[in-house]
Amino acid sequence: MKDYKALTQKYEIDVYPRRDVVLVKGKGARMWDDQGNEYIDMSSGISVANVGHSNDKVVEAISNQAAKLITCANIFYNDTRALFLEKLFSITPNNLTKAFLTNSGTEAVEAAIKFARLTTKKTKFISAMKGFHGRTMGALSATYKKEYKEDFEPLVPGFSSVPFNNFEKLAAAVDDDTAGIILELVQGEGGINIGSEEYFKAVRKLCDEKNILLIIDEIQTGFCRSGKMFAIEYYGIEADMMMLAKSIGGGFPMGVLLCSDKIKAGPGKHGSTFGGNPLACAAGIAAIDFMLENKLWEQAEAKGKYFLEKLSAYNLTAVREIRVFGFMIGIELKDKSQPVIIELLKRRILSLPAGTTVLRLLPPIVISYEDLDTVITNLVEILQ
Ligand SMILES: Cc1ncc(COP(=O)(O)O)c(C=O)c1O
Repeated sequence: MKDYKALTQKYEIDVYPRRDVVLVKGKGARMWDDQGNEYIDMSSGISVANVGHSNDKVVEAISNQAAKLITCANIFYNDTRALFLEKLFSITPNNLTKAFLTNSGTEAVEAAIKFARLTTKKTKFISAMKGFHGRTMGALSATYKKEYKEDFEPLVPGFSSVPFNNFEKLAAAVDDDTAGIILELVQGEGGINIGSEEYFKAVRKLCDEKNILLIIDEIQTGFCRSGKMFAIEYYGIEADMMMLAKSIGGGFPMGVLLCSDKIKAGPGKHGSTFGGNPLACAAGIAAIDFMLENKLWEQAEAKGKYFLEKLSAYNLTAVREIRVFGFMIGIELKDKSQPVIIELLKRRILSLPAGTTVLRLLPPIVISYEDLDTVITNLVEILQ
């Protein structure tokens, strides 16, 4: 058998801190390595496989579309793209009426930054401390973590960050040149930090008063992860633009920037070769259909609650706090999360960090209660 680790290490430039496992297969909430070992996946490819790995409906849609048409430039109309847009707008907030289709989350953020400047004729953006919005130069400017940014400066000028969920600090940072405020509703990478309804209502009002665009990043929270189709449904506010990606294509690379009627664009102002390609759109239709047919948001809510109730029943000495929003689970530890992640891997459970001390669990929403029980039993043994 080929040494896949050695091949990757030889040829791929070194940017990812990798776990010592070669994953070759997935189905639902299970994954397999190249030795045939089976794992419970509590990471979903970082909230990508919400509908489960190699979901039958998604596999069938991609296969059928691949046999028909794989690529279609955006200068032409395409049937699958049109049907995807119709499907997408049947589930997204009503005030968002137009989409720009991308291949990833960071590209959707880039599009938002450009359209915000074009629309407002202003240049500055405010985002939140501990926020994460991607790694390309514009999105990175809105991302908080110093280690991600310091070697790449100067980034895009005009970006500043303020404490999350603190309205006074945000209001004080606004000036006449503020084009947009870019925020997650629940910070994922930052450690499952949950924004309050009061905060977001105040931010919305401020944006209206000062002609600033409210740009909401639902790349991680979107598509049932939060216990609703979109987390914004909890907050009673409207976004001027909203970014989606990750699980939108059932695992296939895709992203979207949704825009309200306020947002200006125009031919030639932006574009993408692969954005909205037929394969991604076919996958997206199938993934959304699966979510609707299975009321996946209800499953996320119920399973998140179940997990929290069961785990909270134990006195876990290594744990400072457990934060759950829908089926986003953040277990804040008293010490670093990395040893726990490695121990879970030894026990064939795939998990994620968020920052240095938070263990983040984003299971495929289709995961069984039996698998959740197995994970809880193992967590209790490790964390007690
Ligand atoms: C909230 C949020 N925004 C943006 C991104 C960037 O998305 P992508 O990795 O697809 O570029 C991520 C990815 O983790 C994310 O969680």
